[in-house]
Amino acid sequence: MDENYDVIILGTGLTECILSGLLSIEGKKVLHVDRNDYYGGASASLNLTQLYRHFRNGEAPPADLGRDRDYNVDLIPKFMMGNGELVKILTHTDVTRNLEFKQIAGSFVYRDGKIAKVPSTEMEAVRSPLMGIFEKRRAKKFFEYVQQYRQDDPKTHQGMDMATTLMRDVYAHFGLEPGTIDFIGHSLALHLEDSYLNRPALETFTRITLYMSSMARWGKSPYLYPLYGLGELPQGFSRLSAVYGGTYMLNKKVDEIICDENGKVTGVRSGDEIAKCTQVICDPSYAPNKVKKTARVIRAICFLKGPIPNTENADSFQVIIPQNQVGRKNDIYIAGVSSAHNVCGKDYHLAIVSTIVETDNPQTEIQPGLSLLGPIVEQFVEIADISEPTDDGTQDQIFVSKSFDATSHFETVCDDVKDLYKRVTGHELVLKQRKTQEEEQQEMAAAH
Ligand SMILES: *[C@@H]1O[C@H](CO)[C@@H](O)[C@H](O)[C@H]1NC(C)=O
Repeated sequence: MDENYDVIILGTGLTECILSGLLSIEGKKVLHVDRNDYYGGASASLNLTQLYRHFRNGEAPPADLGRDRDYNVDLIPKFMMGNGELVKILTHTDVTRNLEFKQIAGSFVYRDGKIAKVPSTEMEAVRSPLMGIFEKRRAKKFFEYVQQYRQDDPKTHQGMDMATTLMRDVYAHFGLEPGTIDFIGHSLALHLEDSYLNRPALETFTRITLYMSSMARWGKSPYLYPLYGLGELPQGFSRLSAVYGGTYMLNKKVDEIICDENGKVTGVRSGDEIAKCTQVICDPSYAPNKVKKTARVIRAICFLKGPIPNTENADSFQVIIPQNQVGRKNDIYIAGVSSAHNVCGKDYHLAIVSTIVETDNPQTEIQPGLSLLGPIVEQFVEIADISEPTDDGTQDQIFVSKSFDATSHFETVCDDVKDLYKRVTGHELVLKQRKTQEEEQQEMAAAH
């Protein structure tokens, strides 16, 4: 470890691993360290042994759950938007070459005590019980307006400007009912609460368009998921970094981030070893005095013996319980995957119920989600802080990432990656297409 590096990265969460890959490609000398003996940090995917070590003090997993190696249980549930930023980063860096993705089979929303499918085709939309006939017509007009709207083309504006018009006024303009507004804002735009109503509509338009274009590209649902669990994503970017000379050390404790008399970072200490560097990037757990808590989230990882009721036997799904439906401020999310994704034993399903904590009794807050699951075989509950840095890192050159938030996808993670990248390098991230494996092999063959 006693060497000089340009950047030392602490923690192997996805944000850190993407940055590690991108900076290595640019020729930076990177050392990447994690205190755990596995990749992924707070958002790792764990096998049964690791899971029971994490939640049950190392108690042995029950034998009927099956083989350890069949399990890759995500600690934080998220899906990739099919047309989202993470997919762009994965394809541009060609990290996709080592990964396989599967579509999430369905997207559902809880309404009036029942689970309903979020329509994925025009046909389904016409049949959907979510809206009455007249409301469907009004909603159609609204969606047509959203789809043709271009901020840079006033001809598409029809006299309104989405950069200034509040979302609540746009809904009012189209005369949409509260139930429809709930549906659009929470199931399509994926807002976690209702503060967006009082912000300019452009943000929500962008989210709706992302949802619809992801859906149009992949069918069934807008989401993709990597086989063998989300932990495959940070590992994919670590391999990329290693190809470009990045050094990895797992299971290595980090004792101190060292600064000089001017408060600028000079290195990282582990025991009596010191690695020197000019910049550090880390997750919040490695820099506790540079972060503040913004919220707490509760997550219950549940093992189920079959698909959850009323989801058409889908092998994977998302269910959103909009806050209004259960008298809360924040939505409850359920993310479901199964042995079809190589994340758990044969015939098992995994469901993670999560929400932002609002009371002193978070366990009760997730009840509306748990009660939709049918019989639960095992349940692991965690309450975690969501933290973000208190400074931008340019003074001391210690750049802290944000914790994974409560959103169900990776869009905010990618925002953080881009933001960190700009602060670390001084320029915007421009994704260049990396050569594919075939192209690299052809070049190597030609050179010989
Ligand atoms: C599960 O994790 C433990 C602890 O990290 C590791 O030693 C073991 O090899 C893993 N099991 C399998 C089957 O991968």
